Formats: sequence, C-alpha cells, structure tokens
Amino acid sequence: MARYAWGVIVLTVLAIVAGYAWVDWQKGGPGDGVYSRVWQPDPAFGYWHPARFYKYGGQMSGRFEGPQCVECHEALTPGIVADWRASRHSNPKGRKPIYCDSCHGNDHARLRMPDRAVCGTCHTTQHAQFLDERRFGYPSHALAMERAVDTKHFADKPKAEVTACLQCHSVAIKCDSCHTRHRFSAAEARRPEACVTCHSGPPHPDDETYFTSAHGKRYLADGNKWDWSKPLTKGNYQTPTCAYCHMKGGKHQVADKAIWKFGLQQVNPLTSTNEVKRAQWVAVCADCHEADWSRQRLAEMDAERKRAWSRLYAAEGVLKDLRGEGLLHPAAGERPPYPLEQEGALFAREHIGYLDGQSSAFYNVSPIERDYFEMWYFTNLGAYKGAAHGAPEFVREGHATMATQLEHIQAKARTLRQQGKQPVAGSWWREGEYTSHNREHN
Ligand code: HEC
Ligand code: HEC
Ligand code: HEC
Ligand code: HEC
Ligand code: HEC
Ligand code: HEC
Ligand code: HEC
Ligand code: HEC
Repeated sequence: MARYAWGVIVLTVLAIVAGYAWVDWQKGGPGDGVYSRVWQPDPAFGYWHPARFYKYGGQMSGRFEGPQCVECHEALTPGIVADWRASRHSNPKGRKPIYCDSCHGNDHARLRMPDRAVCGTCHTTQHAQFLDERRFGYPSHALAMERAVDTKHFADKPKAEVTACLQCHSVAIKCDSCHTRHRFSAAEARRPEACVTCHSGPPHPDDETYFTSAHGKRYLADGNKWDWSKPLTKGNYQTPTCAYCHMKGGKHQVADKAIWKFGLQQVNPLTSTNEVKRAQWVAVCADCHEADWSRQRLAEMDAERKRAWSRLYAAEGVLKDLRGEGLLHPAAGERPPYPLEQEGALFAREHIGYLDGQSSAFYNVSPIERDYFEMWYFTNLGAYKGAAHGAPEFVREGHATMATQLEHIQAKARTLRQQGKQPVAGSWWREGEYTSHNREHN
C-alpha cells in the first residue's frame, strides 16, 4: 500500500516539474509571454518592451559625458532637449543634473531604452509601490503586460493590433506613460489627460464618463486655473481627477481599492475584503462630501450592477440553451482554432461568459454569440463606468441598449430554433485571407 502511495507522490511531483518546464519552454520563444513561440516581435516592440527587445540600430558610436549628449542633441532633437531642460531632472534640488546618460547610458553604440527598473534605481519608493500592486491580481498596471501577451487572441492577431495592445499595456514596463518623456512631470500626471490616452474607448470609457460627470465638467471649466504643483491631498483641489481618486495621496497603485474591477463579472461587494475597500473609497469622497452621502452614491453603483447582471445572465442563458441543443452555427469545432488549439478539436466547445474564457468570445464566433459579446463587453462596461464615475446618461443609455440587445438575442434564438440544425459549415470558414495570413505571419 505504502509503495503505491509513493508512486502517486513521485508521479505528481514529476507532473508538476514537467508542467513548469513546459511553461518555461513556451516562454523561451522570440516573442514574450506564454505564447512567445507563436509570434515574432516587430522592430517597434523594442520601444514598448525595451529590456526584452530593444537593440540600438543607428549609426552613432563613441562614449560621451552627459553635457556632450545635450550639446549634440540640442541640434538633433531640440524638442527632447527642451523638455529635459524644463524638467526637474535638469535642475534637481541640491545635486548635479540627471543627464541623458543616467537613463540611456554613455556608450552610444549600446544605448539602452530605460524601463521602470532604470527609474527605480533612483525612485525606489514609487517603483516599490508600483510592483507591490501585483498582489491585487488582474487587472493592474503592474501585471498589464503579462495580461496582454498571455491571452490567446493576442498571438493570433494581425501585427498592427498586437502593437496597439503593447502601446497601452506597456504601462507595466515603463514609467513614461503618465509622466511623458522628457518632461517627467508630477503636475502633468495629476491631470486626467495623463490617463485617457489609454483609458478611453468602448470597453473602458473612463475618459468619456469622467468628462461628462459633475467632477469632469468642473475640471473642464476651472482646471486651468488650479495650481497643479500641489500634491493630490485634501484641500488642494475642488474636484477630483483620475489620479486623485485612484492614486490617493500619490501612492503608485491603482488596483488597491478596486471591487468591480473591469466589470466583466458579477462580484459580491459585501465580502469583508470588499467592505474594507469600500471604506477606503468613502474616505476618498469624504475629502469633499459627507461620508454617508458618498456611501449611498457607491451603493447606487452596486444596484446598477445588479440590474445589469440580471440582463446579462438572461442572455447567457439563451446562448447556453442553444449550445445544449447544438444550434450554434458554425459549431466550435468548425471554426479556425487558436494557435495552440487543435484543428477541429474533438472537445471544442463554444465559450459563453467569463468563466468559459473571455478571450475566445472576441471573434471566430457565430453571429448570436457576437451579439452577446457586444452587449457584455461594450454596452455593459459603458453602463458600469457611467455608474462608477457619476455619468447618469451613460447608465440610462446603456441599460436601454442592453434591453434592446436582450430582446434581439431572444428573437434570433427563436429563428435559430425554427431553422433547426444546420449542415456542417465546411472548410471555407477556416480558410480565408485574414485567418491564413495571420497563421503564417505571426
Ligand atoms: C555627436 C552627436 C551625438 C552625441 C554626442 C550623442 N548623440 Fe545620441 N544620437 C545622435 C544621432 C545622429 C542619432 C540618430 C541617428 C542614429 O541613431 O543613427 C542619435 C540617437 C540617439 C538616441 C535614439 C536611439 C533610438 O534607437 O531611438 C538616443 C536615446 C540617444 N541618441 C542618446 C544619446 C546619449 C544618452 C548621448 C550621450 C551619452 C548621446 N546620444 C550623444 C548623435 C549624438
Ligand atoms: C529620466 C530618464 C531619461 C533621461 C534623463 C533622458 N531620457 Fe531619453 N528616454 C527616456 C525614456 C523612458 C524613453 C522612452 C523609452 C522607450 O520608448 O522604451 C526615452 C527615449 C528617448 C529617445 C527615443 C524616443 C524619442 O522620443 O525620440 C531619444 C532620442 C532620447 N530619449 C534622447 C534623450 C536625450 C537626448 C536626453 C538628454 C537630453 C535624454 N533622452 C534623457 C528616459 C530618459
Ligand atoms: C539618476 C537618478 C534618477 C533617475 C535614473 C531618474 N530620476 Fe527622476 N528624479 C531624480 C531627481 C534627483 C529628481 C528631482 C528631485 C528634486 O528636485 O527634489 C527627480 C524627479 C522626478 C520626478 C518629479 C518631477 C516633478 O515634477 O516634481 C518624476 C515624475 C521623475 N523624476 C520620474 C522619473 C522617471 C519616470 C524616470 C525613469 C524614466 C526617472 N525619473 C529616472 C532622479 C532620477
Ligand atoms: C499607457 C497606458 C495607461 C495609462 C497612461 C494609464 N493606464 Fe491605467 N491601465 C492601463 C491598462 C493596460 C490597464 C489594464 C491592466 C490589465 O490588463 O491588467 C489599466 C488598468 C487600470 C485600472 C484598473 C485596476 C483594477 O484593479 O481594475 C485603474 C483603476 C487604472 N488603470 C487607473 C489609471 C489612472 C488613474 C491613470 C492615470 C493617472 C492611468 N490608469 C493611466 C493602461 C494605462
Ligand atoms: C487604448 C489602450 C488599450 C489597448 C490598445 C488595449 N488595451 Fe487592454 N486594457 C486597457 C485598459 C485601460 C484596461 C483596463 C480597463 C479597466 O480595468 O476598466 C484593459 C484591460 C484588458 C484586459 C482585461 C484584464 C482583466 O484581467 O480583466 C485584457 C485581457 C486586455 N486588456 C488585453 C488586451 C489585448 C490582447 C489588446 C490588444 C488586442 C489590448 N488589451 C489593447 C487598455 C488597452
Ligand atoms: C498611472 C500613472 C502613473 C504612472 C504609471 C507612474 N506615475 Fe509617478 N506620479 C503619478 C502621479 C499622479 C503623481 C503625483 C502624485 C501626487 O500628487 O502626490 C506622480 C508623482 C511621481 C513622482 C514625484 C513624487 C513626489 O512626491 O514629488 C515621482 C518621482 C514619480 N511619480 C515616479 C514614477 C516612477 C519611477 C514610475 C514608474 C515606476 C511612475 N512614476 C509611474 C502618476 C504615475
Ligand atoms: C470621484 C472619484 C473618481 C474619479 C475622479 C475617477 N474614478 Fe475611476 N472609479 C471610481 C470608482 C468609485 C470606481 C468603482 C470602483 C469599484 O468599486 O470597483 C471606479 C472605477 C474605475 C476603473 C475600473 C477599476 C476599478 O477600480 O474598479 C477604472 C479603470 C477607472 N475607474 C479609471 C478612471 C480614470 C481613467 C479616470 C479619469 C478619466 C477616473 N477613473 C476618474 C472613482 C473615480
Ligand atoms: C476633491 C473634492 C471631491 C472629491 C474627492 C469627490 N467629489 Fe464628488 N463632487 C465634488 C464637487 C465640487 C462636485 C460638484 C458640486 C456638487 O454637485 O456637489 C461634486 C459632485 C458629485 C456628484 C454629483 C452630485 C449631484 O447632485 O449632481 C456626485 C454623484 C459625486 N460628486 C460623487 C462623488 C463620489 C462617489 C466620490 C468618491 C468616490 C466623490 N464624489 C469625490 C467634489 C468632490
């Protein structure tokens, strides 16, 4: 008996070791992340993930001191030098300037593009706070890069789209997102414009909802008169900006208070952990509003989420029934597989809802599944951000649209049932300009 037990233990240990080894191997390709063997980096990726991909490819060589870099680049890249001169780096209190070489190195033939580790050598507090955010899990700035490159639809997408993912998700790698180079200004990062290059558009309309809220409108009216050199603490600002609420006190974390997160799944706001986070949110509002009033405003968001989820679950139910009856056409096994999935896999299954795997719902799906995706990923997330940011028009319109989308899905399901089972779609669904090109060129 004991011998068998040992056998099981040894096999389990071997399986775990093999699992780790396999993931390591997957990560060892030319790309990045667990699908690194499935995609090739474009030259531009050197700037989005420099430690991994940047290699100086220019003509210059030689070793230079900081002032020499400035002198030559004054003529070559005057905008960069002007921004640097206007920054604290060119004139820090009580020490020598932080010249170009502090970040890029002295040896021109082996320049480096600085990522957050370079900034972190001097700004240890901000860098440590930034990394510490990882413990809150996804989504978070600290984990954003892994999140983007470790999704299957990343490896399977056209290059231009993949590059776009990194432009935003590189927030995990570099500090020049909220503090644009080479100004590297705290005042700039305090303003909402610092965030909306990435936080805008249908799945995350933070931009649109903030600027239509009472807070955003007051910012638009008076913001240019405020003194942005002041830290984001009580009494310094009339209305809050993104960073005021999400990076309270200048703490370099955005995920520490998040309850509803991206808005893709229903959560229980009343767990003990979430109650603590909610109390932290109320403390933010209480810089300017009464605590009880603020708590009620946040509870209204929870109520909005509950209504949204009753509609979303109804739509998911319709789709799951159709899946059970084999009426989703073309079926999962007839669709082009993701890079690491088997062609025409035996156990291929249509993914419905968050727990089935969100990445698969973007494309390669039947029309009614795409309808649900639009409802879930765009309309729902817009209504959520309207409720979170105090933009009532987004809530009203989002819910009206979700009601229409649900009716539409129900009507389409009736039609599918009338039509009955469809013949197998054939290979045309798996081949085509888009699918074949990507399979060969990533
Ligand atoms: C004598 C002129 C000269 C000096 C001195 C000089 N550079 Fe440059 N640098 C250039 C030129 C020209 C380019 C653009 C063309 C190229 O890279 O071939 C360039 C490009 C760069 C780039 C962009 C590289 C890229 O891949 O995008 C960086 C960063 C840079 N220099 C930093 C520095 C730093 C740091 C120093 C000082 C250690 C320095 N330079 C000194 C002439 C100079
Ligand atoms: C505090 C750090 C820091 C200092 C100091 C600094 N840079 Fe940079 N630089 C960066 C960062 C960050 C990037 C963007 C890296 C990336 O895209 O991956 C960058 C990118 C660049 C680029 C290429 C991209 C572009 O915007 O054209 C050039 C050229 C450049 N720096 C030149 C300079 C020169 C010249 C100086 C000195 C006047 C200087 N840098 C000083 C951090 C710095
Ligand atoms: C060699 C050390 C060093 C490196 C590397 C460095 N910094 Fe700095 N940074 C400083 C010093 C010194 C100051 C000025 C502090 C002062 O004047 O009190 C500063 C100030 C700042 C400020 C505050 C500016 C303001 O408006 O108050 C920001 C933001 C900043 N750095 C960002 C960065 C980023 C981002 C990087 C990496 C791309 C970076 N720094 C790399 C030393 C460094
Ligand atoms: C360069 C792009 C970029 C900029 C600039 C940026 N973010 Fe983000 N942010 C992201 C990405 C990408 C994610 C999603 C990360 C993931 O997938 O895990 C994210 C996630 C977040 C989250 C979600 C955290 C959670 O737990 O749900 C918050 C809150 C946030 N950012 C706030 C801000 C604020 C406030 C600013 C401006 C001060 C800002 N971001 C600037 C790219 C950016
Ligand atoms: C315009 C900037 C931008 C682009 C481009 C972008 N993202 Fe994001 N992404 C974000 C932001 C911001 C969030 C977080 C929003 C929130 O928490 O409300 C996010 C969230 C995510 C999440 C969800 C994280 C989670 O844990 O729930 C994934 C996965 C993701 N992005 C992958 C991608 C992929 C893959 C691409 C390219 C096809 C991409 N993103 C392109 C800004 C962007
Ligand atoms: C999501 C946006 C965002 C990102 C990313 C970001 N910062 Fe900041 N940073 C801010 C904001 C906002 C402030 C102003 C905080 C305040 O008012 O107290 C700030 C302030 C600073 C300051 C000045 C602190 C002071 O007390 O004067 C430094 C230094 C700094 N950041 C460094 C970094 C470094 C290093 C990184 C990369 C690890 C980084 N930042 C990434 C938004 C950001
Ligand atoms: C008045 C404070 C406030 C302001 C200003 C604000 N937000 Fe939010 N934001 C919230 C609250 C509250 C939530 C919902 C938090 C929860 O319970 O998960 C939220 C949710 C989010 C989320 C989803 C992740 C999360 O924390 O739940 C992102 C991303 C986000 N906001 C980004 C932004 C951006 C970008 C701006 C500026 C354009 C902004 N916010 C302005 C309060 C604010
Ligand atoms: C820095 C100060 C400040 C902070 C922090 C702040 N607000 Fe406000 N808020 C204002 C001001 C000023 C107004 C506009 C005047 C008014 O309507 O009370 C406003 C308006 C509002 C309104 C619209 C009120 C109406 O009747 O139209 C709501 C809702 C709101 N805030 C919710 C919140 C919530 C929730 C938080 C915390 C997540 C928060 N605020 C944080 C200053 C602040």
